[in-house]
Amino acid sequence: MDWKLRGGCDGFSWSSRNPCTGTLNSTGTGTAGNTQKCSHGLSQQGLDLIFEQVLSGGQIFKDRNLLRHDYMPASLPHREEQIRRLGSVLAPALSKERVSNIFAYGKTGTGKTIVARFVLDRLQKKARDYGRAVDTSYVNCRLAGTNYRVIADLCRALGQEVPFTGLAVGELLDRLRDALQSRGSAFLVILDEIDALVKRSEDDSLLYELTRINESLDGGWIGVIGISNDLHFKDFLDPRVLSSLGEEELVFKPYSSDELYDILNDRAAAAFQPGTLDDGALRLCAAMAAGEHGDARRALDLLRVAGEIGERGREKGILESHVRQAQQKVEHDRVTEVLSSLPLHSRILLIAVLHSENARKESLVTGDVYEVYRELCAAAAVESLTQRRVSGLLNELDLMGIVNARVVSFGRYGRTKKIRLGVEPRAVTSTFGSDELVRGLLEYAPKSLSKQHNH
Ligand SMILES: Nc1ncnc2c1ncn2[C@@H]1O[C@H](COP(=O)(O)OP(=O)(O)O)[C@@H](O)[C@H]1O
Ligand SMILES: [Mg+2]
Repeated sequence: MDWKLRGGCDGFSWSSRNPCTGTLNSTGTGTAGNTQKCSHGLSQQGLDLIFEQVLSGGQIFKDRNLLRHDYMPASLPHREEQIRRLGSVLAPALSKERVSNIFAYGKTGTGKTIVARFVLDRLQKKARDYGRAVDTSYVNCRLAGTNYRVIADLCRALGQEVPFTGLAVGELLDRLRDALQSRGSAFLVILDEIDALVKRSEDDSLLYELTRINESLDGGWIGVIGISNDLHFKDFLDPRVLSSLGEEELVFKPYSSDELYDILNDRAAAAFQPGTLDDGALRLCAAMAAGEHGDARRALDLLRVAGEIGERGREKGILESHVRQAQQKVEHDRVTEVLSSLPLHSRILLIAVLHSENARKESLVTGDVYEVYRELCAAAAVESLTQRRVSGLLNELDLMGIVNARVVSFGRYGRTKKIRLGVEPRAVTSTFGSDELVRGLLEYAPKSLSKQHNH
């Protein structure tokens, strides 16, 4: 595709900037210097160009799908050890032997999800080739949201129809057991972001039931690959659950800058047109994402957004300056996305942190925030959660980088956490400003704060 259009008449004349001369006039129609060659309004030719640009993959991107989060690359650099371990633990399923449950943890973007899916995909292909009965399923527990939906998904993966609501969880488990028994297959399930399930319901009985289901079966069996982004998740679990879920453990360390560089390099080679990616820009993406916490997702986002910025600016390639602009956009988008996906109580809690921080200079402890949270709940006529549940939510917000919680010791008075807002207050007010349920709380002046303040 020929990109000689820059700066000339390109048919993109829908704005008041005259595409022929680059000058603006007061009527917004452009000065008519060159009207024969340059029509006003978007010409067919201009529209075709937009489409052709996408069809030909664009000037910078060849195939941007390769940078998508759910794209499965043919190889996963720097995760050979985890792939081999997981593969070895699960391999006996191919000969119908029971496998150990496995618990994988590490920070976000360290490749847990992709490694688990990679291994399970390959295993299932092998099983198919050799005619072995292996079923697999992937459930993201945070997205599923409730115990009910998680088990319902598992039942459906085994071909059992179940209603979207209405049954008792025990009944669902019975159906899962029946399906396993009648299929007589090995059933390997990835329960991703498993910590969300336990933290939200303060109940790990589902995990207990799942890991014990095999005891009452003599046909098929289930093997659980539990994944958590929270390194301290184990502290939340009942020891009985921990001992059966964590028969094997797999740790995912943050990627180093050099490792991220290799990962990006691999994926970029096929995603971009040759010669469009500056090596310095690639290294900068890797270094910025390594500074975050070795997060490959962040690295890929930076690269993709930098490419989009370059392409929109009709540049010939991606430069370090595009990566720096991308950093701001990616961070802003991340915060907005996380805030918009928060459930009601986390929103109220965050507003409590915001009010508390506005009212006082020194950092807050969990107890202060809890008091304000309770007052806000009362003001919104919402039943408040227990302090323990609220601690769990704070922990979740901390993991997402929305608040910063630091454990401090008060000597013989025990330990508590100091809480700070981890994002711009404006991000919270603008995202929650459009939520009718909590909007009023942003304006509310908590009495407990003026009390604390006066002391
Ligand atoms: N070793 C790797 N090679 C290629 N891509 C990777 C690698 N590790 C992670 N990724 C990519 O980075 C993103 C985040 O990885 P993911 O497995 O979702 O992280 P986690 O589940 O630990 O949060 C995904 O888009 C994934 O494809
Ligand atoms: Mg994941």
